[in-house]
Amino acid sequence: MAIYIKRMGGNMKIGIIGGTGFYEMEGNELEIETEYGKILVYKLKDNIFFLPRHGKKHKPAHVVNYKGNIKAMEKLGIERIIAINTVGSMKKNIKPGSIFIPNDFIDFTKRKTTFYDDIAVHIDMSQPFCPVIRKILVEEAKKKGNVYEGIYVATEGPRLETKAEITMFKNFAHVVGMTLVPEAILAREIGICYASICLVSNYAAGLQRELSIEEIKEMYKKNKDIIISIINESIKRIPKKRECDCKNAFEKGKL
Ligand code: HPA
Repeated sequence: MAIYIKRMGGNMKIGIIGGTGFYEMEGNELEIETEYGKILVYKLKDNIFFLPRHGKKHKPAHVVNYKGNIKAMEKLGIERIIAINTVGSMKKNIKPGSIFIPNDFIDFTKRKTTFYDDIAVHIDMSQPFCPVIRKILVEEAKKKGNVYEGIYVATEGPRLETKAEITMFKNFAHVVGMTLVPEAILAREIGICYASICLVSNYAAGLQRELSIEEIKEMYKKNKDIIISIINESIKRIPKKRECDCKNAFEKGKL
């Protein structure tokens, strides 16, 4: 699928981070050297890059090289990230196959979530996603059908949640997933705009009716194209100049 960059200026670079299978076939493979290891990135168009979150060997969510991934984006000069995440729904009305755009998250992981161990930096997360990109994603997603917004609970994995955990989480959040944290935090720490578009792949533990593997595959295939087209349309609308405050997070958070 074509990625549009017509309205973009020379230096505005956009990174898409997603699960395996989203864009690999469409770009030139690059290897970006970072202090956290080598990171695989695909160059899709002049200014658009795709980073397969789980790397070549498909590392599970709890051991993804999140720091390496975000550093690779920084090294490429990327100032905007659109992330694609897969989630389980904790609300009956948010059915598998739905598009969900988080506006906040709760972190139940046990991961290291900062680049800064030697200096005190308290990044403001009262608005954890770039408001400009998030708004565009919501507007573009609405043109394609139903879109839900709300709170994402991040769990450590790799196991799925217990029914008791979901009973607790569903009181204060809508979906559960394993990959948004620490990615969103690390991006903010180094001043990269970040927003996420999630595909609901299942109901969370205890809410699930049986879904056949065929149904899941079909849903994934259908929605993958919708997600790509929402991202394409969104990229066309991202303003050249950053109008948000994401880039100032480090300076504002430093003690
Ligand atoms: N739980 C956690 N992560 C997930 C799920 C889930 O049910 N579905 C997709 N990612």
